[in-house]
Amino acid sequence: MSMRIIPSGETLGATIEGLDLAAVSDADAEAAIQALGRHGVIRFPGQRLAAADLRDFSARLGDLEVNVIGKHQEPGMPEVMTLSNVVRDGKSIGLPDAGQGWHTDMSYSRTIAFANVLYALEVPQREGRTLGATQFCDMAAAWDDLPADLQRRLEGLTALHDFAKFYDMMRLRPGSTRPPLSDEQRRTKPPVSHPMAITHPISGRKSLYANPGYTIRVNGLPQAESDELLAFLFAHQTQEKYLYTFHWTKHDVLVWDNFRCIHQAVADYGPDEPRLMKRCQVMASKYVPLSI
Ligand code: SIN
Repeated sequence: MSMRIIPSGETLGATIEGLDLAAVSDADAEAAIQALGRHGVIRFPGQRLAAADLRDFSARLGDLEVNVIGKHQEPGMPEVMTLSNVVRDGKSIGLPDAGQGWHTDMSYSRTIAFANVLYALEVPQREGRTLGATQFCDMAAAWDDLPADLQRRLEGLTALHDFAKFYDMMRLRPGSTRPPLSDEQRRTKPPVSHPMAITHPISGRKSLYANPGYTIRVNGLPQAESDELLAFLFAHQTQEKYLYTFHWTKHDVLVWDNFRCIHQAVADYGPDEPRLMKRCQVMASKYVPLSI
């Protein structure tokens, strides 16, 4: 069966049918990457993947990240991480609160991320409804809507991104089981600067590159001016008109483009409503060898 790309009709999103991600030809992998550049979020339904299949497919998109926290990794495969609220024998089998607030994965990293690949093994359900959606906002559309003088200003600016901002925010949530970051972990991930306007390596479209989860300051501006600009951008980029909500079906693989989107996991399910995902993060090293 040949692959078929079906756009969602919304600002982001498409489904690719007819691909078994455990056995993708080079031509189909390239077509899927081009579709990701166009649509920002791609669903591959009905997948049956072992952890190694997920890793190997993800590695077709670029270099894989090993998460700094170093927990909930697949035995022998640290590139594959488990995100889950499931507790077995009194222990979490995965990171229970991953991504529960607007952010861009790896914006805190010197080399930023290209894509995330998330595979759904358990999707929470309640009274026939699917819970635990993942939401995206379209940063190319958000950029296009900015006034031209602000676009020109942002093109000359960089901002600082800090891993600890999101992590520490999650620790403040009631019931958080995250331990404090060690000095060593903080040293491993010092804040880094990135341009506030980035050009997509596939589509050539400009995107706003800032996010509420990790961006802490605009370089070169007085603190108050930086705070004001970031508050404006955070409100601008999370408007309803840029929103795409993805409702999971078990065995979906979802790939999203971190040049194009910010995202968040919706924590609307309880401890007895299992959500189990396997995740790989693909770095943008082949597109942007160095950030500023
Ligand atoms: C993430 O932010 O990588 C996790 C998203 C999700 O679990 O829906």
